[in-house]
Amino acid sequence: MTGPSLAGVWGRKAGSLQSLERYSDALKSSGIIWDDRSLDAWLTDPDRMVPGNEMPFNGIKDGRARADLLAFLKEATKPGGPTQRNAQAPMGSMGGMMGGMMGGGGRDPNLKSLDPNMQVKAITYCHDTYRVTTADGKTRAFWERNLRMKTDSGKDGPQSGAPALVRE
Ligand code: HEM
Repeated sequence: MTGPSLAGVWGRKAGSLQSLERYSDALKSSGIIWDDRSLDAWLTDPDRMVPGNEMPFNGIKDGRARADLLAFLKEATKPGGPTQRNAQAPMGSMGGMMGGMMGGGGRDPNLKSLDPNMQVKAITYCHDTYRVTTADGKTRAFWERNLRMKTDSGKDGPQSGAPALVRE
């Protein structure tokens, strides 16, 4: 959700997905319909095609690389294509300590049904350290700059009042 889902993007009107609330006015009012040509121009130089768009990406100047990418995307984003069948989130790069907290199999866990080691019961803060106590009775210490808060109002987000501890 950093950007729009590209599932089914061919034939779609630019800036039209209900699931993204943060489209720029520039993209929404561009009138573009995504097809081979418009996607090629967008990926060459997004700012040139839609001044004021908010996609933080400079574009791909190498025509061959762009053609390869578009050929891949055309297959991958087809309705019923691989993105819908196998929408696996990549594992974060930080292995180790918190690895056991993930649901396993490389998918983000559903935070509505939490294992005890992910259920946050208490947090204390002293000097530069947060101590997070989870429902399995363990307390883990974090350097303050390594602990971040995120919210998730989606279907896999936590129950209100039941914060979860997950690794990035
Ligand atoms: C080769 C890589 C990329 C491709 C193929 C791509 C493709 C696209 C397409 C086709 C759209 C328009 C979708 C629509 O109208 O619904 C779009 C918009 C957007 N993309 Fe990308 N994108 C790429 C890289 C990125 C990156 C790296 C980011 C962010 C880190 C990003 C964030 C966004 C955002 C925020 C928008 C909405 C822009 C706006 O509203 O002005 N994209 N992207």
